[in-house]
Amino acid sequence: MVKAPKKLIEVALPLDDINAAAAREKSIRHGHPSTLHLWWARRPLAAARAVLFAQLVNDPGGERGWGKYPGQTKEDAQKERERLFAIIRELVKWENTNNEELLEIAREEIRKSWRETCELNKGKPGFDPDKLPAFHDPFAGGGAIPLEAQRLGLEAYASDLNPVAVMINKAMIEIPPKFAGKAPVGPIPDGEQADTRGEGGWTGAKGLAKDVRRYGHWMRKEAEKRIGHLYHKVKITKDMAKERPDLEGYVGRELTVIAWLWARTVKSPNPAYAHVDVPLVSNFMLSTKKGKEAYVEPVVEGDSYRFEVRVGKPQDVVAVKKGTTAGKRKAFVCLLSSVPVDYNHIRTEGKAGRMSSRLMAVVAEGDRGRIYLSPTSEMERIAHSAEPSWKPEAKLPDNPRDFKTPNYGLTTFGDLFTPRQLVALNTFSDLVQEARERVIADAKRTGWHDDGVGLDAGGTGATAYGDAVAVYLAFAVNKIVDRGCSICSWDSSRSSIRNVFARQAIPMTWDFVEANPISESTGNYLGGIYWACEVLKNLPSKNYGYADQENAQNQKTSHDKIVSTDPPYYDNIGYADLSDFFYVWVRRALSAYFPVLFSTIAVPKAEELVASPYRHDGKDNAERYFMNGMKQAMANLVQRSHEAYPTTIYYAFKQSDTQSTGTSSTGWESFLEAVIQSGYLIAGTWPMRTELGNRMIGSGTNVLASSIVLVCRKRDESAPSIPRRQFLRELKEELPEALEAMIGGKKGASPIAPVDLAQAAIGPGMAVFSRYSGIIEADGSKMSVHDALIQINKVIDEFFNEAEGDMDSDTRFCIDWFMQYGFKQAEYGQADVLARAKGTTVEGLAVAGVVETGGGKVRLLKFEEYPENWDPEKDTRTPTWEALHQLIRALRSGGEAEAGLLLKKMAERTESIRQLAYRLYTLCERKGWAEEARAYNELIASWHGTIEAADQALGKSREAKQLTLDM
Ligand SMILES: C[S@@+](CC[C@H](N)C(=O)[O-])C[C@H]1O[C@@H](n2cnc3c(N)ncnc32)[C@H](O)[C@@H]1O
Repeated sequence: MVKAPKKLIEVALPLDDINAAAAREKSIRHGHPSTLHLWWARRPLAAARAVLFAQLVNDPGGERGWGKYPGQTKEDAQKERERLFAIIRELVKWENTNNEELLEIAREEIRKSWRETCELNKGKPGFDPDKLPAFHDPFAGGGAIPLEAQRLGLEAYASDLNPVAVMINKAMIEIPPKFAGKAPVGPIPDGEQADTRGEGGWTGAKGLAKDVRRYGHWMRKEAEKRIGHLYHKVKITKDMAKERPDLEGYVGRELTVIAWLWARTVKSPNPAYAHVDVPLVSNFMLSTKKGKEAYVEPVVEGDSYRFEVRVGKPQDVVAVKKGTTAGKRKAFVCLLSSVPVDYNHIRTEGKAGRMSSRLMAVVAEGDRGRIYLSPTSEMERIAHSAEPSWKPEAKLPDNPRDFKTPNYGLTTFGDLFTPRQLVALNTFSDLVQEARERVIADAKRTGWHDDGVGLDAGGTGATAYGDAVAVYLAFAVNKIVDRGCSICSWDSSRSSIRNVFARQAIPMTWDFVEANPISESTGNYLGGIYWACEVLKNLPSKNYGYADQENAQNQKTSHDKIVSTDPPYYDNIGYADLSDFFYVWVRRALSAYFPVLFSTIAVPKAEELVASPYRHDGKDNAERYFMNGMKQAMANLVQRSHEAYPTTIYYAFKQSDTQSTGTSSTGWESFLEAVIQSGYLIAGTWPMRTELGNRMIGSGTNVLASSIVLVCRKRDESAPSIPRRQFLRELKEELPEALEAMIGGKKGASPIAPVDLAQAAIGPGMAVFSRYSGIIEADGSKMSVHDALIQINKVIDEFFNEAEGDMDSDTRFCIDWFMQYGFKQAEYGQADVLARAKGTTVEGLAVAGVVETGGGKVRLLKFEEYPENWDPEKDTRTPTWEALHQLIRALRSGGEAEAGLLLKKMAERTESIRQLAYRLYTLCERKGWAEEARAYNELIASWHGTIEAADQALGKSREAKQLTLDM
């Protein structure tokens, strides 16, 4: 049997730091893989990196029973853990993504742990201390997890059923290492200087990125020659400037049009105007920027109308913002007669092919920002003159939840584009292929070998390089697909184009915008190229990487590999349906070079693990399909993955998964059940949040935990069943120690904030539950996950209640009083009775400074009421309650530094203060007291910083701490 030391992730994590970094990452765009190609619900890199590191390094506590670290105390282990946490805290920072020095420290820790594991398994096949096992993610999606595995020094394998996802993974982990360090071969764009760096200066994928840029520029120039006539500049005439002082300076100049704003139209339902195509406009505002307001005014003349653009603030902003709608979220009215145009009418018109469009305004590039102009019939004529040679015929799915356009007659993916948009996309797709030919020719000319073997067949020469560059050029085309279809609308507050996928759905839009892909503005091709290059430059581009199309239910790639994965969650996102939007275009550009991957006309759907009632004939069938498939995929991992490492599985939490108790729900329980049934035991459950701290407990606990990472180990096949009694005994034996490790051990570091504790604590409890083949109830039935969770929560409560027993009597009074009245006033008599029961007096409590008495009433002081000049070294009666609330006051008023100074003065109480904060947090959470809960959570969340500040005050410098990283 393989000896598998416990990994750090099975014991403790600096969760708050990971969550904070993951939340921060959300706002980062430059160089972030999310800007290479859209994928829905990507995991933050910070979370993926931290989870992997903690999954790969051994826990310093050692595996119980072997005495792996003889002579080591619990305190030693916690200190060592703290050192590993320090590495994680640095690793998760975005600015350290490519900090080689730090990454090498992390990689060495990973290798060290592997060498220890090999030592324990000496002589067994596969335990070569010089060769780390490889990594595999069978649901790789946007590729965050394999990318981070590669960054941490592992060979990375990624697979997904979806060809678009496979291509994204190829672009991130497979292609860059193949061509790392190579100088670019492409022609330098006009007007640019030659790059003087020598051959050795092209580290990582910088040379590849440069070529993507160079050929991108060439494509843009070629596109202008071929389709420039469809994107005419607009000449500003004296006439146009007559009523538009803002245009005066432009008279005689030709300006580039960057966007055309259209309104869809249907025939008026009013019989008197049944021959008129009336506009469906959700908003006539073009720009709401202060001082730069512009809007469209419809001018009605008899039975016709035209649109005129006005600048300045409209007199009736509300009316302008209403467009031709009948009000917010309501349908429309006929512009000519005000007769309602309801959705039924629009659907009927749309399905009969009678929906059309009218140009409302154009946006041109001015010297200092956007200029809005009235449309002309010539502009419309040019747009209508476009004749695409091809359009995607793939049908939109029958899924009214996520795909709204079929209701209105737009039933194929091709229908989502205007003819001019189709011509542009066809042109750019053709140019990807032509650029590839050029890359191959240029590479050969600059001395590359060429065996004619493409990337798909494992080539590394000129042909393969041509394929590689083509992949990124095609991704940039998909960037304009996302901003260049008739679902895109104009964002009047930012004067830019909204992309299609604000959500994981394709909505219907009424007024839409057409971008100019050959401009230098919003939605242009070079923008896509820029973003692709920024990502490329920041990819690790080292260590082997491989991506392929596989069904997770029967893939074989996981064999002896370390696995961390993020499977689809139930029916949240229909990846296959959504990705057809991109697939049809990337297939057009690249299918000749990746014939197998793009062999199907649309993305394969049948084997996708998604509980879609539309695809699986109703809700029940869909649920059954999903759960069975997921079990099979998990069982496959149990069989194949590397036995020395746990597998980590992300579970995407939905709001509806949480209840007021915070931890249980059917979705979550069935998922746990499926994982356990597939043969895994669950050794850890770590909530991952990507929301910012102040929203953390907005409406009760956990609601914003965006996912939970399950840490799974293969269950011993011969695991017995045990009776309920034994389960409860083992829970009581094991859970307290695990909880202690989570909340930071006796020394008081605090990796887990109270807000996360309820979910994190499930892990060690589930570990006890799931290591047996079953827990047998008194009536002979098997205990369900639901009941196990109830028992686990009971033990967690007891743990904190026991800690209360050690508190001073004043504090015990305060806890009970707080539980009943919070910070409200109540009768003195009741306080008196409670105080006696706890062995104290109300007067004593007043002297201690924790309550206020008067008028026959008593109330607890709020933290902001505590005196600022309090000195615990001079105070002779200091209940833990007082110490805790003083700390919160100090933290709120002077930050971690002030709280640290205070804590330093009562260092011996650190542990009891922290325990009390956890206890009070749990209490507030149950009562739904969000404001109070936040204060306790904040204190724990800042505990690490507060301790550091206290250490600094004690003379230990931050630098000295930092050095521990190098140990
Ligand atoms: C939650 S996503 C992964 C997201 C990824 N971790 C990221 O950060 O972008 C789940 C993925 O599972 C894929 N998938 C669904 N069914 C599958 C199957 N049967 N086999 C393999 N992959 C599948 C979907 O295409 C999707 O990309």
